[in-house]
Amino acid sequence: MANDASAVFDTLSPAVSNGSLADPFTPPADSSLWRKNFLLGAATASYQIEGAVNEDGRLPSIWDTFSATPGNVLAGDTGAVACDHYHRWEADVEMLASLGLEGYRLSIAWPRVMDAAGLPNRNGLDFYKRLLNRLKEKGITTSVTLYHWDLPQHLEDRGGWLNRDTAYRFADYADLMSRELAGTVDAWATLNEPWCSAYLGYGNGHHAPGLANDRFATQAMHHLLLAHGLAIPVLRANDPASQKGIVANIGRGTPNSDSAADQRAAHLFEVQHNAWILDPLLKGAYPQDLFELWPGTEPLVLDGDMQTISAPLDFLGINYYFRTNVASDGAHGFRDVPLEGVERTQMGWEVYPDGLRDLLTGFKRTYHNLPPIYITENGMASDDKVIDGHVDDTQRISFLKRHLAAVDQAIKAGVDIRGYFLWSLMDNFEWAFGYERRFGVVHIDYSTQKRTVKRSAELVAKFLKERKARV
Ligand code: FCB
Repeated sequence: MANDASAVFDTLSPAVSNGSLADPFTPPADSSLWRKNFLLGAATASYQIEGAVNEDGRLPSIWDTFSATPGNVLAGDTGAVACDHYHRWEADVEMLASLGLEGYRLSIAWPRVMDAAGLPNRNGLDFYKRLLNRLKEKGITTSVTLYHWDLPQHLEDRGGWLNRDTAYRFADYADLMSRELAGTVDAWATLNEPWCSAYLGYGNGHHAPGLANDRFATQAMHHLLLAHGLAIPVLRANDPASQKGIVANIGRGTPNSDSAADQRAAHLFEVQHNAWILDPLLKGAYPQDLFELWPGTEPLVLDGDMQTISAPLDFLGINYYFRTNVASDGAHGFRDVPLEGVERTQMGWEVYPDGLRDLLTGFKRTYHNLPPIYITENGMASDDKVIDGHVDDTQRISFLKRHLAAVDQAIKAGVDIRGYFLWSLMDNFEWAFGYERRFGVVHIDYSTQKRTVKRSAELVAKFLKERKARV
């Protein structure tokens, strides 16, 4: 089932494979990461890597429109070419397999596979069939996200996620995909990070479609969660053997002082980032504190919606990146108070692995029906350069090691965590930040599309090889 170990070895530079390079990555002997059934993989998303936006009948998405509008994306970058993965997918799968990565999380571009009338686009569908079949041949576990933000523009033109009908169109899309791709998908995730779609897309306008209104954000969130809830039974009916879940980004908020007001601010931060999504999914209700933060923004909820949204999940995908230190804003909200002297990444995000452990153990206490968890994204951006054919991404190696240690601590504290997908397999189009921010464990030279395996990927591969060789 797993990849050929010799292929893994081939990708390692001599200094790594002969052991002459110090190994700052491999987890300690007592780490749960050594368990062979702990899945270790990498993640990507369609718009961030595929390119080929006008090929084989793909329709425009909201990110094509948004990124083509000057001022929305750093340096005017768009996903038109990205990593050219649509044409280079075979080599990319080889690379994934040669690194020994056991799981691959990808997303499907909705505008590539369905036309405006809801009919299948065979050429687009065939791309994903070929890709998923090849991954299965390589023994790689496949985790497929249906919606990683690239809404067909024709649906946005009819209101996008502000229109309840979009949730039903999403269920139709989930139906088509799960009928066509059943048997090649190990895990289906309905949505990636509804918080970003709703809040960054409709609440503050930093992401497509670029609208900015708190009331829009809560209504868009409700329709996104409804879309998720409508899709789950459809996926179950069409592809019973696979796992079904959703992916949420979570944020740690810590109080700037011991004052009651700052403690309350940190609580509200986490309500807005976490409970807004997890409470409806796992408790069947929105957290009332959210409407203290944003008075008068209650979404329109129809009878039965909350039951639909809170249908049981097989897994919960968790994306974690950083923490935010907050203080009271003097009214009913919070404001960021960036800490001085802390380690940060190229994004300016604080490196704070304890936040991942603390949130996971907190969720276990709060949600009695917490499903098994996969960390579906975790990683960092750095200004990586290829020097003499190598990329020495020291900070990333340490980042990954420390976050995997936090995952181990959460497992030891009783949280059921089954796997970890690092973000990302390769440098890619980082949304509003374009190509400047490099999150990959593989470097991309965008002028030649050359892929260079970074040191972090080599060390992950070395660990996976050692783990595989264990009896
Ligand atoms: C997450 C997104 C992912 C990537 C990382 C850095 O919010 O899901 O596509 O951009 O952030």
